Amino acid sequence: MDHFQIRNGELYAENVPLSRIADKVGTPVYVYSRATFERHARVFKEALSGLEKPPHLAFAVKSNPNLAVLKLLSREGYGADVVSGGELARALQAGMPARDIVFSGVGKTREELQAGLEAKIGQFNIESAEEGLELGRIAQSWDVVAPCALRVNPDVDAGTHDKISTGKADNKFGVPINRAGEIFDTLTKAPDCALNLRGIAVHIGSQLSDLSPLERAFEKLGSLLRDLRAAGHTITHVDLGGGLGVPYRKGEVTPSPAEYGEMVARITKGWDVTLMFEPGRVIAGNAGVLLTRVIRVKKGLNHPFVIVDAAMNDLARPALYGAWHDFDAVRPSGERMMANIVGPICETGDTFAMDREIDALASGDLAVFRTAGAYGATMASSYNSRGFVAEVMVDGSDYAVVADRILPGAIADAERVPDFLLS
Ligand code: LLP
Repeated sequence: MDHFQIRNGELYAENVPLSRIADKVGTPVYVYSRATFERHARVFKEALSGLEKPPHLAFAVKSNPNLAVLKLLSREGYGADVVSGGELARALQAGMPARDIVFSGVGKTREELQAGLEAKIGQFNIESAEEGLELGRIAQSWDVVAPCALRVNPDVDAGTHDKISTGKADNKFGVPINRAGEIFDTLTKAPDCALNLRGIAVHIGSQLSDLSPLERAFEKLGSLLRDLRAAGHTITHVDLGGGLGVPYRKGEVTPSPAEYGEMVARITKGWDVTLMFEPGRVIAGNAGVLLTRVIRVKKGLNHPFVIVDAAMNDLARPALYGAWHDFDAVRPSGERMMANIVGPICETGDTFAMDREIDALASGDLAVFRTAGAYGATMASSYNSRGFVAEVMVDGSDYAVVADRILPGAIADAERVPDFLLS
């Protein structure tokens, strides 16, 4: 359920007509709904209320790092799952308590490990023995102990797009699950290595439309938990990652948070740990749309090209993953047309959809790409010297610009022509 609905013939975000935002802020623009974010955050939390211990919820900042979004989620009791020094700084800036921050990622630099230690974050999810040793040695030299979990790769095919699968044996993430015991031994015995290796972590991929790969991965984690405890290790935390898919097309059905929560409760029964979660898309996906204006409709071979002012640099998912985003007119007339939806960028990859039946649109009309709240603005680039798209958050009958549009000139301001090209 989201709060982007048609009222009086026009698409609204909560109580704000999208045309008002387009007129005031310009297009393209991401529009988020506060009420939808809050609803998703609460539904996910509620779905996990049947667990044996209260879980730790860490919003995957990569899915939508906007400071307003992080602040909102922090007010809902969420911590943060961060994967870079930049995300760590944002989470702290948004007021997320350091103890509620988990630092994931396969390539944390020394500086990033230090930044996490300095901030006293709650947990590092280390992805190799090498990283664990480096972190433990920095901690030892600072006379502190680094709380961490070892991310394991369970060799489970998540059944999602290849580029967002992370749990197959040949993916770069985590350590092979059958080597986890040996790495625990190494890291807990290593001299000068101050780690509190208190947990294990897994994340097999994103946009999962079926719970069974997750269930298989969690079962494998359960048997690793038993093995590690039998070997004398103390495990108090298990991080089950993110990955729950959301519907991108009208009528598409994905597992509900409640079904996910029920499965997790069943598989983890008796584990006696604090379970941790890193949801991103399930919270943010349907809480945002990308609002765009039709520049022109151009005749095509089979169907017209509807050329919109948003492009692959603003919303990369269709170009990168062939992803589908529903595309709806802001003021639907009731008429429909077959069309190809494209942006203005000079490559064929800048295509949002081919041969799609959509609301009839003409030059100047407004439309939205739905389900753009996750992995939307955050994946934007300035390709073709386009600026960075603005972001707006709606709250009932109000809205606020939560990220200014960065104009191409501001990007060029950071560049310089060196003296040797001027003489
Ligand atoms: N935890 C870890 C360690 C992750 O790598 C990710 C996502 C998440 C949590 C959050 O997963 P979610 O709940 O959002 O599925 N750009 C791609 C998605 C990449 C996901 C990367 N990792 C897309 O647009 O589909």
